[in-house]
Amino acid sequence: MKKDFLALSQFSKAELDAMFALCKDLKAKTKNREEHHLLKGKTLAMIFEKSSTRTRISFEVGMYQLGGHPLFISSKDSQMGRGEPIKDTARVMARYCDGVMIRTFAQETVEEFAKYASIPVINGLTDLHHPCQIMADVFTVIEHKGSYDGLKFAWIGDGNNMANSWIEAAAIFGFDLTLACPEGYDPNPQVLAWAKANGSAKIVITRDPKEAAKDADVLNTDVWASMGQEEEQKVREKAFAGYQLDEQLLALAKKDALVLHCLPAHRGEEISDGVIEGPNSVVWDEAENRLHVQKAIMATLMK
Ligand code: CP
Ligand code: NVA
Repeated sequence: MKKDFLALSQFSKAELDAMFALCKDLKAKTKNREEHHLLKGKTLAMIFEKSSTRTRISFEVGMYQLGGHPLFISSKDSQMGRGEPIKDTARVMARYCDGVMIRTFAQETVEEFAKYASIPVINGLTDLHHPCQIMADVFTVIEHKGSYDGLKFAWIGDGNNMANSWIEAAAIFGFDLTLACPEGYDPNPQVLAWAKANGSAKIVITRDPKEAAKDADVLNTDVWASMGQEEEQKVREKAFAGYQLDEQLLALAKKDALVLHCLPAHRGEEISDGVIEGPNSVVWDEAENRLHVQKAIMATLMK
């Protein structure tokens, strides 16, 4: 049976921990320039309906480093942009390729693609989830703190795709997560209900960023207007006033707290320049780890 990577909730803690172990090994091999062609001769199609810097480059470089070949496909330049059904595209691509990564709007689109494709499908971001990013984020925490066990995680800002995937991660790995979101911008209620029913992690939603930041080991934020919400920018700037991850908020966290941001960042909006450039920020390690963790995901699913 092929396995997809559409949301973290499809996986057990043991399965995800095994991917972290492989990630650590592949990262060391990459640094030592040791060949690790786990996907020699295999092909990954990468479909993008939204912009990307990190996801495109890390998947493309990662596939090359695994001895395989990546193909970049912009949906608007393919027949998908002219209305060819997802289910047809999925069946055709499965005849050429060994795996597909998709970045799109609706989670249902990646689910439909996976249903019709006989090859593994990886979610490269939807409006609902960003599971590859959260894997890179948790791996970065493991690298810097030794483990995620017993740590207090804080999310400051929009209850968006990133927040939803963090909630799933908290339930699976069993760490405490407090999300400070303005009213009207809470995370997805079904994701929250799943997390409460599938784990004992303490997951709290508050309107108060200070409550989330207090004694946190890891602070995390993201843009106020995600891709596809550009026209809401002005409304959101008002709604999110007071939700900037700045020096005052960081001062409430543990002294050695880590600051994460999936990037791209908007300095002066969700994060201050001082915090993203400051000593607690590990955002460049986090961005690098997209490469290593996605290689582990691809190798696990496609080998
Ligand atoms: N963090 C992330 O997914 O970045 P891109 O949008 O540049 O791929
Ligand atoms: N929440 C952001 C993440 C970008 C990587 C978005 O969906 O645009």
